[in-house]
Amino acid sequence: MTGRGEGHGKLILCGEHAVVYGHPAIAIAVDRTTRVTLSRRDGATEVRSPHVDDRVRDALCTVVPEQGFAVEVETDLPVRRGMGSSAALAVAVVRARADLAGETIAADEVVHRAMPIERSFHGSPSGVDVAVSAHGGCLWFKRGDPAVHRSLPSPALPIVVLDSGEDRETARMVQRVAERRADHAPALDAIGALVERASACLDDPETLGPLLLENHALLRSIGVSTGRLDAMVSLAMEHGAHGAKLAGAGGGGVVMALIEDPESLLAAARARNIHAFTCSVWHAG
Ligand code: PMV
Repeated sequence: MTGRGEGHGKLILCGEHAVVYGHPAIAIAVDRTTRVTLSRRDGATEVRSPHVDDRVRDALCTVVPEQGFAVEVETDLPVRRGMGSSAALAVAVVRARADLAGETIAADEVVHRAMPIERSFHGSPSGVDVAVSAHGGCLWFKRGDPAVHRSLPSPALPIVVLDSGEDRETARMVQRVAERRADHAPALDAIGALVERASACLDDPETLGPLLLENHALLRSIGVSTGRLDAMVSLAMEHGAHGAKLAGAGGGGVVMALIEDPESLLAAARARNIHAFTCSVWHAG
């Protein structure tokens, strides 16, 4: 008997950090996944994963009993880069557990069960990663109890992801913003307002692109960008992107670019030894 589950990665189109303080964010689920296979075995539960560490083990053990299971994890998501790999793992293991029990669960229930796992990774996450991983598509999200989300039309163009090769640092970046919250309040408010503007033009790359750039500048102003991320945003703009920004908590991680014809940017990234790839939006069902 085996149970299988899958969780999708994500990119935050706009609104990271501000979403922690109750502003909305827009995120898309991407066509890269983490897959979990659960089966029975004698003895202690064993985890096989390309990125297994104590945090992964502890997180999985919030759902899988400490005895009697083999947990196999596979992923094609870059890990610790702001693409929601921990949320994808949480969603995948919840779905695998339900599958093993012969249970069918709705996306909202997946979110409910996956959030404790995501908390074991990130302390007090807004929940946007888990919500978009479970629901798919393009989601407007506002944290709360319960969180509020609604589906939006997906951005029309291909997205290129440029990987800085450096881990993004969620806890440290969230803490850094929190320490100067009063100073950063105008930028966080501006990000919140920008999200509302973006939600009205997701199918219009010429209007959306500049909003992504504006979002990046606001994130830089609150201290979560790096020289490398700024340089990758510039590279994307030089190669025809409508807009680009860091995606996720920052301090490292990835840049996403909205671009009509990705080839020239992909070649430029390759020439600079930057790992880059295209992504499209994943829709459930
Ligand atoms: O880089 P990630 O996937 O951990 O994104 C974090 C997004 C933040 O807004 C910075 C934190 C959160 O909990 O929403």
